[in-house]
Amino acid sequence: MSKKIILAIESSCDETSAAIVVNGREVLSNVIASQIDIHTKFGGVVPEVASRQHIEAINAVVTEALSEAKVTLDDIDAVGVTYGPGLVGALLVGLQYAKGLAYSLGVPLVGVNHIEGHICANFIEHKDLKPPFVCLVVSGGHTFIVHMKDYGDFEILGETRDDAAGEAFDKVARAIGLGYPGGPKIDKISKEGNENAMKFPKANFHDDTLDFSFSGVKSAVLNYLNKMNMSGEDINKADVAASFQKAVVEVLTDNVIETCKRRKVDKIAIAGGVASNSALRKSLMEAGDKLGIDVLFPSMILCTDNAAMIGSAAYYELIRGNIASLDLNAKPNLRL
Ligand code: KG4
Ligand code: ZN
Repeated sequence: MSKKIILAIESSCDETSAAIVVNGREVLSNVIASQIDIHTKFGGVVPEVASRQHIEAINAVVTEALSEAKVTLDDIDAVGVTYGPGLVGALLVGLQYAKGLAYSLGVPLVGVNHIEGHICANFIEHKDLKPPFVCLVVSGGHTFIVHMKDYGDFEILGETRDDAAGEAFDKVARAIGLGYPGGPKIDKISKEGNENAMKFPKANFHDDTLDFSFSGVKSAVLNYLNKMNMSGEDINKADVAASFQKAVVEVLTDNVIETCKRRKVDKIAIAGGVASNSALRKSLMEAGDKLGIDVLFPSMILCTDNAAMIGSAAYYELIRGNIASLDLNAKPNLRL
């Protein structure tokens, strides 16, 4: 297939992003307008505020993505856009904008699943990577173990039964007074703490599931903090953070490695915001080394929400003929 230049748009949560991606692997631009400073005041993402910010930002973000990539709208072969999962009002801003562009340019519209986008971030980073591999998708809203058997062929083998991994990081960070977003703050402060100071429980399902549960460890941390506060004892934030992080990282590592064994796969790719976590990186690398399993991570900027990953996923959908019609709607609970 000839060269395909895709303009991709992502607006599922609190980042307005546009990118120009060639053939799913080469990123010419990846512009990200983060709303984090606005939402920090509220201690988390406020959906209505997010939608309004997307509306204000989107035109400038797309214009900048085009100019940074040194392309014009006439060069665009298709428009890729996230249509779920995510916040419905936020998704609709990117989706309606993308529809308008695709219609006016007379090019195909490609709807992209945000989770598939996170997985495809690895294709940008690792130019030779091809399926099959196991992907751990860990973000603020999602925790999935996915077996990517081929392009567009995914099987979810494990998922969270309650909080997402990133959500647990954010809630624990708030409880120990580190602020939002909590993941990077827990990661940082944990380096000064003792990860064996407290033993927080890991979910133990009595079946052979690869699912996760993070509400138990979160509650255990909250109970510990309450107990210490009531007895007036000092809380060592770094020890709490490191011990919590250890419990989460261990279960993520165990389940991903077990998936590789069951599926006889020797490649793991990580995706989503929590993939930036330094303890998770270290733990998976060490486990992979022992078993001869390759562990791949996208760079930090491709781990968190961005449109380049959507452009990569859109390319693989486009070449399989998955073109959306202009009545495509946002799907807040879209599954892989
Ligand atoms: O993928 P992402 O940008 O947005 C979603 O689609 O959710 O992920 C954001 C999540 C937040 O919960 C944030 O706290 C977490 O990723 N996160 C981290 C780290 N960096 C971001 N969690 C743990 N350690 C980190 N270094
Ligand atoms: Zn995401």
